[in-house]
Amino acid sequence: MPCTVICGGFWGDEGKGKIISYLALKEPLDVCVRTGSVNAAHTIWYKGNRYALHMVPGGFVNGKCRLLISAGSNVEVKQFLEEVTLTNVKNRIGIDSQASIIEEKHSEQDKASAHLKGLGTTGRGVGPAIEERVRRTAKLAKDMPELKPYLTDAATETNKAIDTGKNVLLEGTQGLLLSLFHGTYPYVTGRDTSASAICSEAGVGPTKVDNVLVVLKAFITRVGTGPLPGEISKEEAQKRGWFETAAGTGRDRRSAPFNFELAKKAVMINGATQIALTKLDCVYSACQGAKTFDELSSEAKQFISEVEKQTRTSVALIGTGPDALDLIDRRK
Ligand code: IMP
Ligand code: MG
Repeated sequence: MPCTVICGGFWGDEGKGKIISYLALKEPLDVCVRTGSVNAAHTIWYKGNRYALHMVPGGFVNGKCRLLISAGSNVEVKQFLEEVTLTNVKNRIGIDSQASIIEEKHSEQDKASAHLKGLGTTGRGVGPAIEERVRRTAKLAKDMPELKPYLTDAATETNKAIDTGKNVLLEGTQGLLLSLFHGTYPYVTGRDTSASAICSEAGVGPTKVDNVLVVLKAFITRVGTGPLPGEISKEEAQKRGWFETAAGTGRDRRSAPFNFELAKKAVMINGATQIALTKLDCVYSACQGAKTFDELSSEAKQFISEVEKQTRTSVALIGTGPDALDLIDRRK
């Protein structure tokens, strides 16, 4: 590892949760830092259970991993406490004292705004909570008595871990094309979602990062409004086995075929060192459950080599099914 950033390359829902859980189970992961907020849900299958996590880092599947929520995050207290109980991580999770708080009023403002509704936001209040933070009137984690047992300096913990050679994962949320700066504005989320921004939220400088793993799905989905090149109908998506609903809000996800130009942009802006390509089995059904590259069909192999050629980046991990271990690991 030692310090790896995981980020989405499209409009979120690329399968970051699955990749994070695979890495956390396979490697001695010491620290996993979650950035972003409750608008994102990371789906993780673990011991036969499905978790859709909005706050707890996906690295929780590794029982020895210290879990942190970054200073740049927005914490919804009730959701956080519920997930801590659900995942049983009370003794190993910390929140940066300077993380800001999403309150009920932010969700109400999100849902009441015709403009935000038009963008198809998740309604979780993240945009209004960020607005409040920018106005410098937000409550911070250190202002909340319920969070007292969890408060820490997450940036210092993370940097100390990196400096002493520990394995650290910085977990991004959403995808590059939902970035406030680099995405399809105004149909974007309220923050930058690129690898640099993930580092900034966590308080880790660019010289400390060894790997940037960009997660791309073998087809593209998006929830909410905004452009989606090559979009196919819901009926066509169902026929192809690409139809999905959002883990967080239950909304239908729109879908489109893989797009090389968008993949190149995601690799460029994130400074990707490697690609994780998920859901290959949804496009090439013969690949389902494959654990080695040799098992893949020739069409699937050709697609992967085209991705590598066009992005000039190696496809290191390939998802072939929903379980964390349905995966081809080509890292040396
Ligand atoms: P907001 O982040 O709730 O303000 O929503 C802004 C846009 O980002 C909407 O199109 C949402 O559907 C989208 N969005 C926010 N979070 C996620 C996510 O985790 N996955 C996919 N789309 C998301
Ligand atoms: Mg998601």
